[in-house]
Amino acid sequence: MNSRFCDGLGALTLGISALLGCSDRDIDPSQTETDALQPVEPTELLSYSCRQDETKESTPPGSAAKLPKTLRETNRLLGVAVNAAGLEDPAYAKTVAEQYSQLTPENEMKWDAIEPEPGVFDFTRADTIVAFAQANGMKVRGHTLVWHSQLPAWMEALTGTDAVRAAMTQHIQTVVSHFRDNFPGVVVAYDVVNEAVNIAQGAMPGASVYRDSVFSRELGEGFIAEAFQIAHDTDPDALLFYNDFGIEGMNGGKSTGAFNIVSGLVAAGVPIDGVGFQMHTGPTDQGPGAADFRANIQRYADLGLQVEITEMDVSLCSIGANVLGLELQRYRYNRIVSACFDSPACRSVSVWGLTDPNSWLNSNGCMQGMIVLDTQPAPLVFNETFGRKPAWWGIYDGLMGCSYQ
Ligand code: G3I
Repeated sequence: MNSRFCDGLGALTLGISALLGCSDRDIDPSQTETDALQPVEPTELLSYSCRQDETKESTPPGSAAKLPKTLRETNRLLGVAVNAAGLEDPAYAKTVAEQYSQLTPENEMKWDAIEPEPGVFDFTRADTIVAFAQANGMKVRGHTLVWHSQLPAWMEALTGTDAVRAAMTQHIQTVVSHFRDNFPGVVVAYDVVNEAVNIAQGAMPGASVYRDSVFSRELGEGFIAEAFQIAHDTDPDALLFYNDFGIEGMNGGKSTGAFNIVSGLVAAGVPIDGVGFQMHTGPTDQGPGAADFRANIQRYADLGLQVEITEMDVSLCSIGANVLGLELQRYRYNRIVSACFDSPACRSVSVWGLTDPNSWLNSNGCMQGMIVLDTQPAPLVFNETFGRKPAWWGIYDGLMGCSYQ
């Protein structure tokens, strides 16, 4: 365990510090936990900082920190999922524009939003986000073209191979050509297929590797290759990704299933550019551990693919948004973001929401089995007043090449 991190744990509890591999001499039991859901500078919160002189120079007191130089120089992107309504709030819009270089529409490009009725397309809310990105010199990840969820009822109910193929083809062609023609060079990547691997894969004997959906039912497993080919034919410049959760580590049936599908696509010459790891995770070094994640990135890089973290959040349900939780959250963001950006294959890292109150996790609350916990997920890197949480500095340090390990 890095002594710098152990020093930082001076504010934390003995048990957790020991669990993380720090020795007793690292602990200062005189320090107690305080509520830290405020825009707290990490140097005020804890005694250590990875931040380098260069970073401090670009972060004058009282002003928002800017994207690190390394990010700008290497053309790597730091992204955030946004919603069109949020951008109407000046504080929300300002924070997005200042802190990030790539946007993902959280819901506005999904099938139910864009094509609510057969052949009837509504780009209003998606265009709001893409136009915002364009006006602020940002890129957009198109999320998502083919997904079993958030389909309109008519599409869910569609039967027959020809009808489903025609609907999927028209949907992909219409969406991709819309952004290609109306916002040239802005929507640079698409999650072409999202979450197609069966979550029971590996856990239930005989379970299909493919999740049941209108696409897999009617088109068979070839629907993935078909979708990528249609997207590529429509916009050959767009980067095309397979995106999923629970495939971030090397092990597990779902991860193996995804790797087998993707490597099969590559071997067959399907135009796939990369894999998106959603990374909805918690504050401990598991699910995946950082070393496991690094190994998994490498096996996709060895296929010649790019990788991205597409939807990162770090739920504090299990521990609470206290000093300990916030510090573990910073550590977790740093190690995972570092793992990605340490690889030349990593194109971007995106978080799934701007501020803690914006997170999709709030709709589920914090549960342990049937018990409602007295904690909040607080999974993102800005708090409710757009203050930078310690987690923000975890990402920042990771982008600056400072990894807490
Ligand atoms: O649009 C309706 C609105 O008309 C209605 O009044 C309101 C009432 O509840 O619901 C609105 O729809 C909600 C939608 O978000 C927009 O707010 C849906 O109920 C709700 O289920 C939906 O949740 C989204 C979820 O995907 C759906 O699966 C979350 O915001 C979104 O963050 C989440 O994102 C997914 C990624 O796309 C894929 N990976 C997992 C990730 C988290 O689940």
